[in-house]
Amino acid sequence: MEKEMFETLIGKDEIETRIGELAAKIDYDYNGEEVVVVPVLKGGMIFACSLMLELKSTPVVVDYIDVSSYGNNTSSMGEVIPNKWLKDSVNGKNVLIVDDIIDSGRTLDYIKNRIISEERPKSIKLCTLLNKPSRREFDIEPDYVGFDIEDVFVAGYGLDYKGYQRNNPSVVKVKQFKGN
Ligand code: IMP
Ligand code: MG
Repeated sequence: MEKEMFETLIGKDEIETRIGELAAKIDYDYNGEEVVVVPVLKGGMIFACSLMLELKSTPVVVDYIDVSSYGNNTSSMGEVIPNKWLKDSVNGKNVLIVDDIIDSGRTLDYIKNRIISEERPKSIKLCTLLNKPSRREFDIEPDYVGFDIEDVFVAGYGLDYKGYQRNNPSVVKVKQFKGN
């Protein structure tokens, strides 16, 4: 039987400190202009909430997108299926897409290109808690990154392993092994 162990990769305090730094940079960059923050559910929701709570000078409006990237348990492959799209138009607005992780880049490439072609926002930026640059298959780079990580499967802080671990306040490495 497959079993797993979880080993802390990035602790809660380190994540919170980094989110404070990202929020300060975002406040600085938008210089008081309104931003539509768009968490990508489900994975991006916890990070997006923490980030928004740290924004001090940016007027924030929230919408959300829910997508599924179909694949097996530990890698996303194939197709992006939108389950829920934006409620209100973001035409002419500053859009900040917030996700848990960029892996192949397929999900954020799809979301970014679709919003640009359908909505014509004033600006669109990508913010991700985690980034796996070595896995990139699409020509897309995030504007704000919490942490670059190696090619390991992780969970916690919004990311799931088989549906669980999203509420773990740390990012953990998932180690699978054969056991009884
Ligand atoms: P993409 O390959 O960049 O499209 O990654 C899409 C999605 O796969 C991410 O938003 C995550 O939800 C999921 N994903 C990728 N790598 C991991 C991981 O290490 N742990 C948990 N989910 C992951
Ligand atoms: Mg995701």
